[in-house]
Amino acid sequence: MNRLDGKVALISGAARGIGGETARLMVEAGAKVAVGDVLDEKGRETVRAIDGPGGDNSVYVHLDVTREEDWNAAVAAAVGRFGKLDILVNNAGLFLGKDLESASLAEWERLSAVNLTGVFLGTKLCLPALRDAAQKSPHGSAIVNLASTAGIVGSTQDPLYSMTKGGVTLFTKSAALEFARKGYKIRVNSMHPGTIDTDMGDQVLVTRARNLGTNDVEAARRQVIERLPIGRMGIPTDIAKGIVFLVSDDAAFMTGAGLVIDGGITAQ
Ligand SMILES: NC(=O)c1ccc[n+]([C@@H]2O[C@H](COP(=O)([O-])OP(=O)(O)OC[C@H]3O[C@@H](n4cnc5c(N)ncnc54)[C@H](O)[C@@H]3O)[C@@H](O)[C@H]2O)c1
Repeated sequence: MNRLDGKVALISGAARGIGGETARLMVEAGAKVAVGDVLDEKGRETVRAIDGPGGDNSVYVHLDVTREEDWNAAVAAAVGRFGKLDILVNNAGLFLGKDLESASLAEWERLSAVNLTGVFLGTKLCLPALRDAAQKSPHGSAIVNLASTAGIVGSTQDPLYSMTKGGVTLFTKSAALEFARKGYKIRVNSMHPGTIDTDMGDQVLVTRARNLGTNDVEAARRQVIERLPIGRMGIPTDIAKGIVFLVSDDAAFMTGAGLVIDGGITAQ
């Protein structure tokens, strides 16, 4: 189950966090992976950790998702090194952690450039390579976009982040329909994590602590955990396992759908 033997993936924002763990699990499942990020040193470290000495299953590429030329270079690097591109994970993302009264236009423009424009550019510029690979594979190619529970229900901490993730949720469905209508054999699904223990997860807790008026991050963490039906925060591997499933041929009948992995928070 969930094997990716012979497949090639490009993951944005994969130097650390959910993207880094997804890259590791994909290689474990048999894929070759291009790790894209703006954190070059951390990205190279992640690739070294995945591959070990002499390994040839992953490569680091500098990729700022807001720049067309970076996407073109990343696709060329993945195809040049591993021969094709079957999988794209639009994972890079920012959390702002501000309410409407304190967020500035410049902050919105930065947030939407990464969370929305980045997903549009990634999808558009990887499309030719994904389509080529899809023609030669029985179940086609796959894209997963990282949305959030904040793309299904409103974030209590960050309405602008929610606006971007709501956009990603419906872009996913619409892109899935467009590719199906055109017969491209490219499935597109979204992933909706709850609060996950990563650098961004820490940022969410810092914001929550500030909004509680205490700046007590540990108290904010306890509050989040108390409200979670499963009784713990998520960890990157909880989400990475879901992404590996979505891009594997075991999810061959899934497109335009969202997978919620949130410890039960949106069930209430
Ligand atoms: N952690 C959570 O609680 C949580 C919850 C729901 C959704 N998500 C989503 O999951 C995805 C991964 O989040 P994470 O928790 O691993 O966060 P993270 O901050 O640990 O990792 C995000 C990565 O994206 C990279 N990045 C930022 N801007 C970039 C750009 N312009 N180009 C390329 N890379 C860029 C960062 O350098 C970083 O490596 C994001 O889209 C996030 O919105 C996270």
